[in-house]
Amino acid sequence: MSNENGKLQLDGKEFDMPVMSGTIGPDVVDIRKFYGQSGAFTFDPGFTSTASCESQLTYIDGGEGVLLHRGYSIEELSKDSSFMEVSYLLLNGELPNTDQLNDFSYTISRHTMLHEQLATFYRGFRRDAHPMAIMCGVVGALSAFYHDSTDIADPEHRRISSHRLIAKMPTIAAMAYKYSTGQPFLYPDNDLSYTGNFLRMTFGVPAEKYEVNPVIERAMDRIFILHADHEQNASTSTVRLAGSSGANPFACIAAGIACLWGPAHGGANEAALNMLREIGTPDQIPHYIERAKDKNDPFRLMGFGHRVYKNYDPRATVMQETVREVLSELKLKDPIFEVALQLEEMALNDDYFKEKKLFPNVDFYSGIIYSAIGFPTEMFTVLFALARTVGWVAQWNEMISDPGQKIGRPRQLYTGPEARPFVPIANR
Ligand code: ACO
Repeated sequence: MSNENGKLQLDGKEFDMPVMSGTIGPDVVDIRKFYGQSGAFTFDPGFTSTASCESQLTYIDGGEGVLLHRGYSIEELSKDSSFMEVSYLLLNGELPNTDQLNDFSYTISRHTMLHEQLATFYRGFRRDAHPMAIMCGVVGALSAFYHDSTDIADPEHRRISSHRLIAKMPTIAAMAYKYSTGQPFLYPDNDLSYTGNFLRMTFGVPAEKYEVNPVIERAMDRIFILHADHEQNASTSTVRLAGSSGANPFACIAAGIACLWGPAHGGANEAALNMLREIGTPDQIPHYIERAKDKNDPFRLMGFGHRVYKNYDPRATVMQETVREVLSELKLKDPIFEVALQLEEMALNDDYFKEKKLFPNVDFYSGIIYSAIGFPTEMFTVLFALARTVGWVAQWNEMISDPGQKIGRPRQLYTGPEARPFVPIANR
């Protein structure tokens, strides 16, 4: 892997820096021995230039707007495969054949139920609790219910806990929604697909038969594919960091959910729809664009910009097509979609957004679909968490299986006071 050396000069000394190449993407300078040799740290808060791990799962070329899972493009995966297929691919490295896919889907469907005691756990939350708060709590609590799969050194435990997390997340998410509405929880129906089952547990009621709409089921499944993994984003890095200490996978995924909740990350889908509703009509768009450009105004165009994509987020393209499909199936004309389209066009033609390479990201359009299907805004980030669980789990497995894995422990540039004598309280 290592192919050539770079050189770094510091205080008149020269240090050899091995350079590593991946299959595609930028080379990386291996600085692991740099502190030992030079006594200096490198400084990169926000990891803007630092690769935190080696991975074979997902590749992004932000300049070109490319996203690949195990080498397959997100456009092809979202068009021609299912969320279960993509989950298998992320976990196992190859696309499944029909038997493998059937076995995998069957295994996942056998883990969809929750321990019955967990239903009482929900009742401890306030009815108006944000469902992401419930997700953090309930997913973290899984480790209290499934002790038999928390030995991370055992590959079989890792396999079972991964399947449990992927399988139970729709049940947990649907129950969080049901709890907020006061409707009874629905048990999973394993005759349905992964996504159909989730739709039924969310929108069905025990008193009536629920017919899954195949167009909505396909749209949701595609949205789950779009969110399945996204290499070393903030929540995935959080899962890896939490897992690097040897914490159990349920606790690690709960940490990922907490990170995802923030408006700069998964919470942007909720924030984007709220923003579009606040804008309300196309004539208001110029005012909000001016606000987004004003350095003295904290307002940002939510669903716009990305740390890695400096081109159109390929997931946003698929998402925009999916909005059209869902609105047409539901025979809805959402004026907010018109606002979104016009806002996108205006921003993409504005010098500020052009210069800073700010494009719509996956969250810009997702809220419009979720809202059309009937999800309240608080559930949007929950849907993201549900779909991203497979990516978190696959990344966590990759890290734990790496024999060279170490606890994640960044260093710092200390700018606080130097050592000084303690002053007794009477003398302060
Ligand atoms: N609206 C207006 N200006 C923006 C926006 C925006 N949405 N995003 C970035 N900028 C500007 C910044 O003000 C900054 O300007 P400056 O160089 O003059 O200071 C410049 O573009 C670079 O922005 P940073 O915040 O430094 O870029 P970073 O990579 O750290 O942040 C982020 C990326 C957090 C996604 C940012 O673009 C943002 O806040 N977007 C809105 C929230 C959002 O949509 N998040 C979802 C991300 S995708 C996901 O999690 C699925």
